[in-house]
Amino acid sequence: MSLIDDAAKVCRNAYAPYSDFRVGAAIRATSGAVYLGCNVENVAYPEGTCAEAGAIAAMVAGGDTKIAEVAVISEGSQPITPCGGCRQKLAQFAEPDVPVLLGTTGGARVSTTVGALLPGAFGAVHMKDA
Ligand code: THU
Repeated sequence: MSLIDDAAKVCRNAYAPYSDFRVGAAIRATSGAVYLGCNVENVAYPEGTCAEAGAIAAMVAGGDTKIAEVAVISEGSQPITPCGGCRQKLAQFAEPDVPVLLGTTGGARVSTTVGALLPGAFGAVHMKDA
């Protein structure tokens, strides 16, 4: 199964009673392991979490910290694009050339990279004494 198929499958488990917008994310780590996440909303709206954040948390919990490939899929009419916070979260664990495939459950696809999604990313290099 391809990574985008994994993302489509986990998208079905999203908990999105408030937005009715389900998102699934699949991350392949450099180890080869695949980690999944979906958005999980909350009645206290700001407490909801994005699919990408869930997949990243699963990856770190699974013992991986290097991303090789990302796929994100949603039910919208055009391919989803990760929110700003998720771009920063992905950049924490991925080189700029890491491929990101974005899609809809209807079959639309757009290919990009972590670097293209977050040009000029704030990184460890900007920290004092880094
Ligand atoms: N969402 C994601 O899961 N990932 C994104 O990158 C954008 C937005 C979710 C959050 C919320 O549950 C729903 O989509 C609507 O914003």
